Amino acid sequence: MAILVTGGAGFIGSNFVLDWLRLGLGPVVNVDKLTYAGNLQNLASIADEPTHQFVRADIGDRDTIRRLLDEHGVTAIVNFAAETHVDRSIHSPGEFLRTNVQGTFALLEAARTYYDTLAESAKRSFRFINISTDEVYGSLTPQAPAFTETSPYHPSSPYSASKAAADHLCRSYFATYGLPVVTTNCSNNYGPYQFPEKLIPLMIRNAMRGEPLPVYGDGGNVRDWLYVGDHCAAIREVLSNGRIGETYNVGGNAERTNMEVVEALCDILADLSGDGDSGRYRELITFVADRPGHDRRYAVDAGKIRDELGWEPAETFETGLRQTVQWYLDNEAWTDSVETGEYREWLETNYELRASNS
Ligand code: NAD
Ligand code: TYD
Repeated sequence: MAILVTGGAGFIGSNFVLDWLRLGLGPVVNVDKLTYAGNLQNLASIADEPTHQFVRADIGDRDTIRRLLDEHGVTAIVNFAAETHVDRSIHSPGEFLRTNVQGTFALLEAARTYYDTLAESAKRSFRFINISTDEVYGSLTPQAPAFTETSPYHPSSPYSASKAAADHLCRSYFATYGLPVVTTNCSNNYGPYQFPEKLIPLMIRNAMRGEPLPVYGDGGNVRDWLYVGDHCAAIREVLSNGRIGETYNVGGNAERTNMEVVEALCDILADLSGDGDSGRYRELITFVADRPGHDRRYAVDAGKIRDELGWEPAETFETGLRQTVQWYLDNEAWTDSVETGEYREWLETNYELRASNS
C-alpha cells in the first residue's frame, strides 16, 4: 500500500517525498527518468529509508508503470514528472510534447487499466493527482482579476501548451472512464532544491558568484510566488479531501514583479552574508533581451482550496524567500554539483543569445 510519485527527484517532487516521509504518511514508490533536472542528491537523506523505493523509469513506459502499480498495490499517483522550463521549451519543444503530453497519456493508461482491477473499496479511495501550472491560463493585464478554476485556457509557450494538453487529457479520463483525477494549478514555486535555471535560484547563484543578474525585458513581468513546502501541504490536502474531477488553484498571495523579486534577493543576501551592502548585488542587475511570448502577469485566486479544504500558505513571500536564500547559502555544494555539462552549455547558449539580441 504505497503512493506512486513521479518526478520525485526534481524540485517539487523531492520536497514532496521528503515531507511525506518525515510526516510518516506511508511508503512511496518514486519514479523518475533523471533528466538534467532530476537529482538523486535531493533524496540523499532518505537513501536508506525502507519506506522509499526509487525506480529510474520514464512515465511514458506504460508496462513498467503498470508493473509497479500492481506490485505495490498503489493507492494514489501524484504526477510531478514533466519538462518544466519555459525557455527550454522555446529552444526545443519536442521533449515537452513527449513527456508532458505522451508521457501523461501513458501514465493515465497505466492508471486506468490498473484502476479497473481494483475492488470497489480500493476504487473509492484511489486518486490520480495531476500537478499543473497557472501558466495554462495565459497572461493577465495589470488590473484583471486573478485566475480562478473556471478561467479559460490560453497557453502561450510550448511548455504551457503541453501542460494544458495534459490537463485536458486528465479531465477526459475522469469524464470518460471515471478515473478519480484531481488537478492542481499552482503558481511559481520557490525553495530548496530548485534547479538554478529558474529565476530565484539562478539569481542567488549568480549573485553569490558576483556574476550578472539577467532580467528579461523591463523586469516588470509579474508572477505569484508560492513556497514549495506550502505547495506540498496543499497537495496532501487535495489528496485526502479534494473532490474527484475537480481543479484547485494553489497560490502564495504574493504577486511581485521580477525586479521586486531580484531586489529583495539582493537585500536578503546582503543581510545574511553580514556586510549589509545590497548595492554590491544590485549593481549586478543586467537587462537582457526579453523571452518570446513572455506572459506579462500571472495571479492566482486560491479561494476555492481555502474555502473547501481549509488550506492557506503558511509562509509569506518575505519569510519563504529568507529561508530559501539561507538554504542556498548553506548548500553551495549542491548548486555546484548540479551544474552538469549540459547545464553549463544551456547557460551559455541562452544568455549569449539574449545578450546579442538586447
Ligand atoms: P523539475 O524540472 O524540477 O523536475 C521534473 C522532474 O521530472 C525531474 O526530476 C525529471 O527528471 C523528471 N522527469 C522529466 N521527464 C520525465 C519522464 N518522462 N519520466 C519520468 N520522470 C521525468 O520540475 P518541478 O519544478 O519540480 O515541477 C514539478 C511539476 O510541477 C511539473 O509538472 C510542473 O509543470 C509543475 N509546476 C511547477 C512549478 C514551478 O514553479 N516549479 C509551477 C507550477 C507547476
Ligand atoms: P522562471 O523562473 O523561468 O518561471 P516561469 O517562466 O515559469 O514563470 O521565470 C520567472 C520570471 O522571471 C519570468 O517572468 C521570466 C523571468 N526571468 C528573468 O527575468 N531572467 C532569468 O534569467 C530567468 C530564468 C527568468
